[in-house]
Amino acid sequence: MGNYAIILAAGKGTRMKSSLYKVMHKVCGKAMVEHVISHVEKVGMDNIVTIVGCGADAVQELLQERSEYALQTEQLGTGHAVKQAKSLLGDKKGTTLVICGDTPLITEETIQSVMTHHQESGAKATILTAYANNPSGYGRVVRNQEGFVEKIVEHKDANQEELLIQEINTGTYVFDNEALFETLEKVTNDNAQGEYYLPDVIEILKQEGHTVSAFQMKDIEESLGVNDRVALAQAERLMRQRINTYHMQQGVSLIDPSSTYIDSDVVIGEDTIIEPNVLIKGKSIIGKQCFIGMGSEIVDTIIGNQVNVRSSCLEQSTIDSGVDIGPMAHIRPNSVLGSHVHVGNFVEIKNSIIGSETKMGHLTYIGDAVLGERINVGCGTIVVNYDGKNKHRSTIGSDSFIGCNANLVSPVHIGNGAFIAAGSTITQDVPDDALAIARSRQENKLHYVEKLPHKK
Ligand code: UD1
Ligand code: MG
Repeated sequence: MGNYAIILAAGKGTRMKSSLYKVMHKVCGKAMVEHVISHVEKVGMDNIVTIVGCGADAVQELLQERSEYALQTEQLGTGHAVKQAKSLLGDKKGTTLVICGDTPLITEETIQSVMTHHQESGAKATILTAYANNPSGYGRVVRNQEGFVEKIVEHKDANQEELLIQEINTGTYVFDNEALFETLEKVTNDNAQGEYYLPDVIEILKQEGHTVSAFQMKDIEESLGVNDRVALAQAERLMRQRINTYHMQQGVSLIDPSSTYIDSDVVIGEDTIIEPNVLIKGKSIIGKQCFIGMGSEIVDTIIGNQVNVRSSCLEQSTIDSGVDIGPMAHIRPNSVLGSHVHVGNFVEIKNSIIGSETKMGHLTYIGDAVLGERINVGCGTIVVNYDGKNKHRSTIGSDSFIGCNANLVSPVHIGNGAFIAAGSTITQDVPDDALAIARSRQENKLHYVEKLPHKK
C-alpha cells in the first residue's frame, strides 16, 4: 500500500490572458506548480506524477526529477487529465492525492490532515473543502439532509439554489487508487463546459454505494485557486504575509511587513533588521544582525553577518561579514566582497573580487578586476575594462592606494603597496611599492591674470 500524488498542470490558463502557462506564473518568486510540489514532497509520496500538456517542456524543465510526467495532449478536463496517469499508477494499491497546480497556498499540514482523515474514515474518496465568503467560480459541495456529501456541482452547471452554497471544492482530493481509475472510466462530458470533470468521480462513487467523505480546511485562505491575475495578486499578498510572519517569528525585525517583499526560499538570520520597500529575491541568504535599508533590492545574493546595506541593489554576488554598502551602490553579478569591505555611494562593482578591508567610498566603477586587501580606492576611480569590443581583466595588489579620478585601463596590473597619483590614466603595469603618475605637469603662469583683458 503506497501513497501517490497527481498534480494537475496541463491547462493553458485562458483566464490569465498570458503567453506563460498558468502554473508557471510565480507567487513570491516561485512558480505556482513548484509551491505545490514542495508541499506534496514534504508529505512523503512513493510516486509523484505531474500531468503536463500546455507548456509541458517548461514545467518538466522546472520540476526535473522531482516528478514523473504524464502527457495530456488535449485539455478535455480535470477528469481526463487524471486518467493520463493510468499507465504509471493504474495498477497500484494505496492512496492517491490529486491536487491542482494552481492552488499554491495549500500547506503540507493540510495535505497531511486530509490524507490522515481519509485513511481513518475508510472512504473511497475524500474532498478537501473550504467555507468561502465568496464562492463564485468554484465547484460547490452539495450535501444531503444528513450532511453527507452527494456531489460537486461546477459553478457553470449550478442552479440558483446550488449557487448559494458556500462550501467549495478546493480541487484537492484523496482517493483509493484503484477506485479512482475505475471510476474515471465512467465519467462523461455531459455538462456546461463539455469537459470530463474529476469531481464527478465523487457522485458516481456515492451512487454506487461507496463512502465518500469531506474534510473542511480551517484556513479558507489556503484554498485560493488562481485562475486570473486578480487571484494571482491575492495569492501573492497572502503568501507574502505568511513568509513575513515566519521570518518575524524566527527573530527578524521587519519595520513594515506590509511593504517588505521576501521570496519563498530566502533565508534570514536572527536580529537582522529590514526597512520598508525592500525586495529580497530568489535564493538569497542573509546572515545575522544585518541591516537592510529602505529601497534595497537583493537578488540571489549570499550575505554574511553584520552587513549593512543602505538603499542599494545587489545581484548574484557573495558578501562577507562586516561589509558596509551604499547608499545607492550597485553590486552586479559575480562579485565577491571580502570581510569589512566598504562600498560607498554611487559605486558599481561587476564580476570582481574585492579583498577584505578594501574601501571605495564614492563614485567608482570596478569591472572584471581582482583587488587585494586594505586598498584605498579614491573617489572617481574607474577600471576601464571595455575597449569597445572586448572586456579585459585587471589586478590591484594589497595595500595599494589609488588616488582620486584615476583611470586604470585594462588589462593592467598594479603591484602591492603601489601608489597611483590622482588624475592618472594608467596604461602600463605598476611594480610593487612604486608611485605612478600619468598626467601632464602643472604649470603656473605668474601674474598672468592681471594681463587678462577684463582685468585691465
Ligand atoms: C477546479 C474544479 C472546481 C474547484 C476548483 C478549485 C473541476 C472540473 N473543477 O475548477 O470544482 O472548485 O478547481 O480551484 O475540476 N487541468 C489539466 N487539464 C485539463 C484541465 C485542467 O491539467 O484538461 C489542470 C489545470 O492546469 C489546473 C487544474 O487542472 O492546474 C484545475 O483546472 P482549472 O481550469 O483551474 O479548474 P477550475 O475552473 O479552477
Ligand atoms: Mg483553477
